[in-house]
Amino acid sequence: MLTPNPTALKIHFIASEAEPFAKAGGLGDYAGSLPLALRELSANATNQQIDIRLTIPYHSSIEADNFSIKKICDLKIDTQERKSEGEAFLTTINGLPCYLISQNSPPYMNDSVYSTDAIMDGEKYIFFSLASLELLRKIQWKADIVHANDWHTAVAIYYLALTRNKNHLLKNTKTLQTIHNLPFMGEGTQPVLKKYNLPLLEDPDLPLWARQLPFALGLAKADEIVAVSPTYSQEIRTAAFGNGLEKFLEKRKEDISGILNGIDIKKWNPAQDQLIERCYTSENLQARKENKRAILSILSLSIDEDLPLLIMVSRLDRQKGIELILDGLHSLKELAWQAVLLGTGNTNLENACFALENDMPDRVRAVMRFDKKLAHQLFSAGDILMMPSLYEPCGTSQMIAMRYGCIPVATSVGGLKDSITNESDGTRTGFLFEKHTTKAFLNCLRRALGLFNRKKVWQNIQKRAMEEDFSWKRSAERYLKLYLGLHKQLKQPQYKK
Ligand code: GLC
Repeated sequence: MLTPNPTALKIHFIASEAEPFAKAGGLGDYAGSLPLALRELSANATNQQIDIRLTIPYHSSIEADNFSIKKICDLKIDTQERKSEGEAFLTTINGLPCYLISQNSPPYMNDSVYSTDAIMDGEKYIFFSLASLELLRKIQWKADIVHANDWHTAVAIYYLALTRNKNHLLKNTKTLQTIHNLPFMGEGTQPVLKKYNLPLLEDPDLPLWARQLPFALGLAKADEIVAVSPTYSQEIRTAAFGNGLEKFLEKRKEDISGILNGIDIKKWNPAQDQLIERCYTSENLQARKENKRAILSILSLSIDEDLPLLIMVSRLDRQKGIELILDGLHSLKELAWQAVLLGTGNTNLENACFALENDMPDRVRAVMRFDKKLAHQLFSAGDILMMPSLYEPCGTSQMIAMRYGCIPVATSVGGLKDSITNESDGTRTGFLFEKHTTKAFLNCLRRALGLFNRKKVWQNIQKRAMEEDFSWKRSAERYLKLYLGLHKQLKQPQYKK
């Protein structure tokens, strides 16, 4: 049993995925890192402790042998038919309590975190959202704040709002909804909402079509909304990025803020990275050349360390704007460069990457798989990271690349805009372009390649990029402030000197 701390701020943090249990994308890094960073802050605060607990689905890909997992209770959730049943388990990761919730019937905890079947995902995540609240009742843990992430857990916020008056335990619990990726709202899950007796929301501010989408329901009822970067928090209130919810979000603007995510600076540390050929800091950037030679040799590209090495490390998804890289490199024949594209996802995009390699076999390698080691090697060897996302709520690769002295060329959107400085006045840490067109991307890439040839200037850009603080600690401090603002009677923290 966990020993409760009656004066601690209690956060029930729910997400579809979290490292080290299960990860499909950036949300898995976020949910695996932020709760731990908040725990660490708490350990350093003199007057405000935080009892944060993470809850995720017990995906069948999670191997019990890797964690010491104990069953703590059964969970039963009402539906229009018979009850849906599951179980809750407990384990800890570096002291952080983590609950895993399984579902017995229907058995939809399929291997992958997400499926392509909306009903299956709806069943899995709507059950999970409701079960995560039932868990609190079972263990009688009176959370001060329920922090949900994306559409998968938004229904917990909606259900809490609907039932608050009858809920002794959680009647004063506040809710926070983080937006990682607004376009995915849980479309196609309407029959499941109905099955779990969740009514449509009669909110005149919400467009009709959105009143039965999990994400919109959570956003309508959350006390506080956080987007994963300040720029994205503004963009979602415009027609270009609001996905039809822009007017509704504009009305809620007082409750919306943006907090940039961090990266795991221990895992991503060029000074101590076991997966790269040679470790380095901003003081011995020359060492990167050895890493470049190693990777070019592994990939059978000609070894010329003075040629710029362009890299892409990305999920292959429409969001990532990969077609700009494909079209752009295809027409960038007049300059000398080499490129390595690493990623998996959409089959058409994978094939298009292979086609580029076929067209330019002496310059391009397409590695279409998830390869952690190769990702580390590429960041430690590449000169330029290409990241022409169509939209990017926060983005992780650009921050990792910068920490490794690999300079991003990226669209000026969302978290890319907030993490990359594109000024020519001695503060530059990367390159941004405005219009999402191949032409604009190429112009920007040419600008970067121009400066790459001015060795001293380039090294200064690398040094500045490597010195940026992208630690989770910084983000955790902002979340803690928000939590405490929501829970007004608690004091702002003071830290040990
Ligand atoms: C989503 C967004 C990405 C963000 C991540 C974590 O995957 O697309 O930009 O970094 O969530 O918040």
